[in-house]
Amino acid sequence: MEDTLLTTKNICKDFGPVRVLDDINFNLNPGEVNALIGENGAGKSTLVKIISGYHKPTEGKLFLEGEKLSLDNIAEGEKKGIVMIHQELNLAPDLTVEENIFLGQEKKKGYLLDEKYMYDECQKILKELNCDITPKERIKDLSISNQQMVEIAKAVRKEAKVIIMDEPTSSLTKEEVKILFKLINKLKGENVGIIFISHKLDEVQEIADKVTILRDGKQIKTGAAKEFTENQMANLMVGRELEDMYPEKPVSENKKVVLEAKNISVPGFVDSASFKLYENEILGFAGLVGAGRTELLEAVVGLRERTSGQIYKRDQEIDASNYIKSIDNNIAYLSEDRKGKTLLTSKNLPFNLTLLSLEKYSDPFIDKNRELKALKEAEEKFEIQIPNYRLRADKLSGGNQQKLGVAKLMEAEPEIIIFDEPTRGIDVGTKQQMYSFIKELVTKKNKSCIVISSELQEIIGLCTRVIVMCDGKITGSLTGEQIKEEIIMQYATGLKGAV
Ligand SMILES: Nc1ncnc2c1ncn2[C@@H]1O[C@H](COP(=O)(O)OP(=O)(O)OP(=O)(O)O)[C@@H](O)[C@H]1O
Ligand SMILES: [Mg+2]
Repeated sequence: MEDTLLTTKNICKDFGPVRVLDDINFNLNPGEVNALIGENGAGKSTLVKIISGYHKPTEGKLFLEGEKLSLDNIAEGEKKGIVMIHQELNLAPDLTVEENIFLGQEKKKGYLLDEKYMYDECQKILKELNCDITPKERIKDLSISNQQMVEIAKAVRKEAKVIIMDEPTSSLTKEEVKILFKLINKLKGENVGIIFISHKLDEVQEIADKVTILRDGKQIKTGAAKEFTENQMANLMVGRELEDMYPEKPVSENKKVVLEAKNISVPGFVDSASFKLYENEILGFAGLVGAGRTELLEAVVGLRERTSGQIYKRDQEIDASNYIKSIDNNIAYLSEDRKGKTLLTSKNLPFNLTLLSLEKYSDPFIDKNRELKALKEAEEKFEIQIPNYRLRADKLSGGNQQKLGVAKLMEAEPEIIIFDEPTRGIDVGTKQQMYSFIKELVTKKNKSCIVISSELQEIIGLCTRVIVMCDGKITGSLTGEQIKEEIIMQYATGLKGAV
């Protein structure tokens, strides 16, 4: 106990009548990484929000370096040296990288802002993080992974004693994760304590010293990370033995083309890419970050402007100049950007669920009862954890927001569904459900699916065919035995295929 940096004693938290945290005794030493793991909705984000001063506990106490803490808000937490990187990115989209990093802590020289200092300081941190961005770029022009890196840069600058990282890696590339881990090790060397939340148990195993497992708001187990295998962690999280992650792959002999994209170009991202999607297929898109997968498929559904190319649905050319038209053509897209593009997080749950399918619920005014009924059905079908039907979408846990996004998409009754990073932020048990759900769509519901994923294992385990992209071009289309890591990587890095 002597050298404990941060302790929580019997922390409980109620939201209305619901107890989401029950008697949590969490402990963090200086220079230690304590990983907080648990299913979606287990209470991880709520606990760290209490530690950082965002929420007040209903019961229990917090101690920092042995002293009792009573925080009224995040600013107070930061003053004490507790800094949090939020799960849902918290940047001002219209401001620049530099403005965001210094927001609320602008450096002045006399009455004026010390522009040079801030610019140089910002450059320095970005360089340390190996980030390929400049201080003057606007947040809204950055990729999600670069936005995440800006969040990290912002936190690191604050010289904290405790840094909380709530799923920092869910939208980072493997390379970026390596850089982050290097940074974490450096911070450990400076005696900073780190609370690390992630659903990627291999990462937890790699970076954590200690693991704290939550289930349904209760602390199930705490111990040295090396005492647990990944499987043991997963089983403790869900409270049962998990079976095989991936369902058996459907066999699709069907060669009817449902969707065809010809010569699609998006300047700077995609260079004359053509592909076909067959009926009842789960078609994977693999590639390194920056290969142009998201941009290509956004262009296919009209979420991004293309400068050339045609799109055909069952041999008929369709107008995909905007997303509404694609929805009318029964093509739906689940964006990788949950907060920015999938949900209107400041609106309530029924509003979000029915947004793409309003005509089903209006006559001509929205029938609130039917909307609510649909929400209850979605709750059951997708096992969304909803504490209260009138909540704003941002009050759901991250993983449950993701499930709501999928439910919303399915409300539009699409025939072709494009999932971009469908399991981002989703716990191991729920991932398994998501895979079975996608398989059922193609085997039982006569749908065709496209899955973009940066997790190669997911592409390999789930997809019946895999298209690989490198540098804006399609370099390969793999089936059967060819769907293997080594082969995909050869095409993804341009060693193989027409580049
Ligand atoms: N402000 C709030 N009002 C009501 N309920 C809330 C609020 N914030 C969180 N909850 C509920 O508390 C529970 C725990 O949520 P929390 O965000 O802590 O989960 P989590 O473990 O971080 O999950 P995930 O892995 O999905 O991010 C959820 O049921 C969530 O809906
Ligand atoms: Mg969370």
